[in-house]
Amino acid sequence: MFVTISMIILAYLVGSISSAILICRLLNLPDPRSTGSNNPGATNVLRISNKATAASVLVFDVLKGTIPVWGAYFLGVEPIWLGVVAVAACLGHMFPVFFSFQGGKAVATAFGVLLPIGLDLGLLLLLTWVIVAKSSRYSSLAAIITVSAAPLYVWLLKPDYVYPVLMLSALIIFRHKDNIIRLVKGTEPKISRV
Ligand code: G3P
Repeated sequence: MFVTISMIILAYLVGSISSAILICRLLNLPDPRSTGSNNPGATNVLRISNKATAASVLVFDVLKGTIPVWGAYFLGVEPIWLGVVAVAACLGHMFPVFFSFQGGKAVATAFGVLLPIGLDLGLLLLLTWVIVAKSSRYSSLAAIITVSAAPLYVWLLKPDYVYPVLMLSALIIFRHKDNIIRLVKGTEPKISRV
């Protein structure tokens, strides 16, 4: 149990490392929490910088989800607790202890925590996001549709993990409430640089 609790705490702390804020600080860019959508995530970093910077944020945020879950798995944490480790990493991203609990929406980190379930799931999620993003040009809509489909994909491929994934999807959709209002009003910005 000591290892399990340590991995849950570690996952939250790793999730709390906001790559968007740190990389923007390092490059003397505006704080992503006070510009564009005010979201410290890859989409908003793309608005204030370039594709390479946004891609660095994306890769970091995916890995900070994948690494704690893989670590916990290799340390023998039981499947039921792996779901808690996964949720802890995403909660860290949403409410980071190192950044006044002002975090992001955890889309990339959720993708990262789900990758260890299987490459087939990863590909399905990626394909869903890419199809919606390419056709609509809305990152938020792509994320909302992908996380809404995630519990169904997990139920079909690895039903043991469906409950933590349902919880993650609900949390991520809730974090998109402002995007949903903007999408309905037609004021949501499309994926692009400013
Ligand atoms: O992954 C975050 C995305 O779904 C929305 O980002 O900056 O448009 O609120 P943003």
